[in-house]
Amino acid sequence: MLERTQRSGRRLFEWVEAGFNRIGGHRWNPFYQLGALSFFFFWIITVSGLYLYIFFRTGTTAAYESVEYLTIDQWYLGGVMRSLHRYASDAFVVTIVLHILREFFIGRYRYFRWFSWVTGVPLLWLTFAAGIGGYWLVWDSLAQYIAITTAEWLDWLPFLTDPIARNFLNQASMSDRFFSLLSFLHIAIPLFLLLGMWIHIQRMTLPRSNPTRILAVGTISALLVLSFILPATSQEPANLDNLVFTVNLDWFYLNFYPLLDKWSAGSIWALVFGVTLLLVVMPWLPPHKPEPVAVVDLENCNGCGRCFDDCPFGAVDMFPRTDNLPFSHEAVVDSALCASCGICVGSCPTATPFRRATALVPGIDMPQLKIADIRDKTVQAAEKLTGHDRVIVYGCRNGTDINRLQGSGVAVISLPCISALPPSFIDFVIARGHAEGVFLTGCQQGDCYYRLGIDWTEQRIAGLRDPALRKKVPRERVATCWSGPVGFARQKAELVSFRAQLLEMGPNRRNGAIINKTDTPDSKGG
Ligand code: HEM
Ligand code: SF4
Ligand code: SF4
Repeated sequence: MLERTQRSGRRLFEWVEAGFNRIGGHRWNPFYQLGALSFFFFWIITVSGLYLYIFFRTGTTAAYESVEYLTIDQWYLGGVMRSLHRYASDAFVVTIVLHILREFFIGRYRYFRWFSWVTGVPLLWLTFAAGIGGYWLVWDSLAQYIAITTAEWLDWLPFLTDPIARNFLNQASMSDRFFSLLSFLHIAIPLFLLLGMWIHIQRMTLPRSNPTRILAVGTISALLVLSFILPATSQEPANLDNLVFTVNLDWFYLNFYPLLDKWSAGSIWALVFGVTLLLVVMPWLPPHKPEPVAVVDLENCNGCGRCFDDCPFGAVDMFPRTDNLPFSHEAVVDSALCASCGICVGSCPTATPFRRATALVPGIDMPQLKIADIRDKTVQAAEKLTGHDRVIVYGCRNGTDINRLQGSGVAVISLPCISALPPSFIDFVIARGHAEGVFLTGCQQGDCYYRLGIDWTEQRIAGLRDPALRKKVPRERVATCWSGPVGFARQKAELVSFRAQLLEMGPNRRNGAIINKTDTPDSKGG
């Protein structure tokens, strides 16, 4: 049931995302940057909020009047700021909700990701608390409705000895001091939210907290246009001596208010508590058996720190050496943080298939797919290939099922992440004549399941990141295809054209002689 829901949800997201990719490419696809967009909206809310705060007056009549002044008299700036504040807040809720749904459908909330998920839960409630408080400050008829309904709901709590609702009995009972408290809360809650957002991304290396420039410019332009053509306005001024019968609700923040009218306060508390509890325990439902994590082999670790730099989840730390080898540091893996992605293995300089003098044991390795196994698989698969356009496809398990690409001239090797492949393997395949070309494929660009795998792979091939692919390796014999789980047709087409290009280029030569795996001195072992 859970799996079926996730599969359907995932398909829906993939379908919509593919549409966005077709229109403007991955760099402008908002679905790949929902967390970053949420940050962006938060900054817009903060800047516009600071401006509004300069003119805002606390007090039962002053509050409404100061907001009206901004909206009407100062429409060209104050009004635009108010609208930006409102619409960015609405968009903030949308991106957060989509962010939660997407992480859930893709299954990116379990195992090592529990921390990001669980620290996200309070952010959701803080966002609603901040937004509802904002509507309250305007002190129009909507604010009056929210104030009374919320107060009655909060008063259900047994530890509140002084009922809040008493403040809203009539016009005279509403004090200016209560208003000052509200405006203080409207600043304090977002500050807690910011602290929570900071904690939320602490376990990630290079978290994407800023959207791409094109998306940022597009988003702020859209918000500005909306602010000019549909400025945010207030409803009738609040009057506690009158009852409020009809209000226009904001469906982003106040969507559950109709429930507060229909259900008892206790039932709503039970619902909020139940949803929170469910969200918090979700990463462990159902319980799972963890995958083996990366293991350091001290004898082969020279303390270079590349695994530390490349691990997307901060699972590797560098500590002072504990053995007698002449290096200052050694890598240590924190198994609680490790995603079993193997990216650290791809970054380790000792993980080279050319190594023949000693057994191929790198400084860091994955027990479930050792680097020596990848070399053996490569050599064995290559031996069965025929033709002059032979290709070895290395694919990530989160992309398409690469077995469907297999054929007489194509061998496939599946990896946890494409960046788990040290670039020296590409060199090895081409220089040793195991195939005419290497085809690397995996997640959709901009949406790597392990966050940084595609970036690291591209930078290593371009020679911008260690371990870099040697300059000597002919780049025209290396192809990459970031097609994602639904991009099989594209992947197949690109592989076909890559093989045609290899045929055209002719056999791989060194010093004029054709390189063939059977010519190499160590062809038996690889
Ligand atoms: C204020 C609201 C939020 C903001 C600003 C935010 C922002 C972010 C950012 C910037 C990332 C890192 C993305 C990356 O670099 O790959 C992230 C990841 C994540 N967020 Fe949020 N988030 C928010 C709310 C939530 C909520 C409510 C949940 C779930 C209950 C959640 C669950 C996650 C998870 C599971 C990840 C990890 C993704 C990964 O490891 O690939 N977030 N978030
Ligand atoms: S397997 Fe991935 S998460 Fe674990 S230490 Fe290596 S790079 Fe980090
Ligand atoms: S990349 Fe390899 S050699 Fe360098 S610190 Fe990590 S495990 Fe050790």
